[in-house]
Amino acid sequence: MGCAISGTGLAPKVARDAGDSVLARLSGEQVHLIKESWKVIQEDIARVGIIMFVRLFETHPECKDVFFLFRDVEDLERLRTSKELRAHGLRVMSFIEKSVARLDHVERLDQLALELGKSHYRYNAPPKYFDYVGAEFICAVQPILKENWTTELEEAWKTLFLYITTIMKQGYQEEEKNHTNNLAASRREKPEKMNTAL
Ligand code: HEM
Repeated sequence: MGCAISGTGLAPKVARDAGDSVLARLSGEQVHLIKESWKVIQEDIARVGIIMFVRLFETHPECKDVFFLFRDVEDLERLRTSKELRAHGLRVMSFIEKSVARLDHVERLDQLALELGKSHYRYNAPPKYFDYVGAEFICAVQPILKENWTTELEEAWKTLFLYITTIMKQGYQEEEKNHTNNLAASRREKPEKMNTAL
């Protein structure tokens, strides 16, 4: 289960509330490194997706409770052959693939990550859990890239995950606010409706 991540894991070095300033830290060279490494990773995306989520559930068992399908599975080894986890892992990896493809069109990446954050509010997946995923992704892909894995590449992937999760958190908060406002509005409307009915 162990995996050596250099530095302080995914602890951000920058303000967490500003995705733009995080992305500004992804240099052209880092974008290049990510794209090159993706060419190798993409050949194994189904396996990486599974390894990543099994690791996530091992290191942070509270994450498993968010998934209706997996919350009662005690033996995590069983999940390695689960069709459902494979499908879920592939959905997440496809998102990463789209993110990599949009590194040159960040406004489109922003929109994608914002919507994803909103959908995670609806999935009841708490934003603090988003921070765990990048480290597990890194541990899953390190063995695939073998000697091509470098501290520079690791830093580049950490920065990309920090960027994506920062925007996802913004989307989550927007959706949470909308939900609260809608709830408040429907509570205000209700008494009027009741009066009309009377
Ligand atoms: C970097 C972090 C993450 C990324 C990129 C990500 C990506 C995705 C994607 C692409 C989907 C497919 C559905 C959609 O597009 O809305 C999805 C679904 C989902 N995610 Fe995440 N996710 C992340 C973190 C998490 C975490 C930490 C949890 C819970 C601990 C979680 C729980 C879920 C659930 C419950 C679903 C719906 C079920 C499903 O589609 O199988 N996600 N996620």
